[in-house]
Amino acid sequence: MIADPKTIDWQALGFNYMQLPYRFEAHWRDGAWDKGGLTQDPNMTMNEGSPILHYGQGAFEGLKAYRTKTGAIQLFRPDQNAQRMEHAADRLLMPHYPVADFIDAVKQVVIANQDFVPPYGTGATLYIRPILIGVGENIGVEPAQEYTFRIFVTPVGPYFKGGLTPTNFLVVDYDRAAHNGTGQSKVGGNYAASLLAGKTAHEHHFSDAIYLDPRHHKYIEEVGSANFLAFTKDGKTLKTPKSPSILPSITKYSSLYLAEHVLGMKTEETHISIDDLDEFGEAAACGTAAVISPIAGIQYGDHYHVFYDEKKVGPITHKLYDLLTGIQFGDVQAPKGWIVPV
Ligand code: PLP
Ligand code: COI
Repeated sequence: MIADPKTIDWQALGFNYMQLPYRFEAHWRDGAWDKGGLTQDPNMTMNEGSPILHYGQGAFEGLKAYRTKTGAIQLFRPDQNAQRMEHAADRLLMPHYPVADFIDAVKQVVIANQDFVPPYGTGATLYIRPILIGVGENIGVEPAQEYTFRIFVTPVGPYFKGGLTPTNFLVVDYDRAAHNGTGQSKVGGNYAASLLAGKTAHEHHFSDAIYLDPRHHKYIEEVGSANFLAFTKDGKTLKTPKSPSILPSITKYSSLYLAEHVLGMKTEETHISIDDLDEFGEAAACGTAAVISPIAGIQYGDHYHVFYDEKKVGPITHKLYDLLTGIQFGDVQAPKGWIVPV
């Protein structure tokens, strides 16, 4: 059933699907994309042989639309999402959906559903989910002959229940992606592989799983569906994992830029051993959905490591959160090109 914006309690939103009136869809046939357009049908039909259904030939993205104090709506670095989808398309032998068309389609869907962009001050946002999938008649393990690009949107609140209240994470033995696999690409297989790890973490009352690198099982990779940030105890350096099997998070690269250019910190993409957590005074998970979510503690085997405080967000994490969200909601001047008005 289509949601009614008048009845939504914006402050109570979690990270859930809500059916909104409009979505965008375009089709690639005979080597070219059609113009695409808005549609009201939330369901998709496709041939039973579609490679997305059997072989997971598909990629997705995640970005948000933010309501500013003046009531305007803006996007945060949508060009970065469009480019990352192009990289995923290259990895899975799919056609590019052009960057300019991607941004234009995002704007069309947001405008069509603008009553569902949450009010400024509620902390909620309109989450935007583009997907690119291989469809059509097929049975062999080979790329599709046809593709569908779709964007739908849904209003969301915090991804991890705590929001800015720290939560705990569990290091698991499962790998989400192989060393030279598809971990760098936002493709469904990585997330299917993460479901059991996530379930294990939730069953033990942790917010999500932490993955170690698939080669040595020693270095931190990802925090569920978010990258890992850690601040050294002297508060001078922000470190984040370097690995070919993690997703290049737009929130992470934005955080590194802000830490360096605004907060005057040193930044490093490096190996972070699960045995060296004592080096850090604060840690966080970062992503479009996760924003900057402080990590209270990490369980690794029998050892439970607490960072700043189990209940309170640390001061540097808080400062970075305020800076990033200040930019996203239009309260703080953004670096050139980061904000796109809708
Ligand atoms: N890591 C994984 C596995 C993710 O799914 C996401 C979400 O997009 C991120 C990290 C964070 O990336 P971004 O900041 O671009 O949303
Ligand atoms: C995002 O942060 O946009 C994500 O895609 C995370 C997750 C919900 C898969």
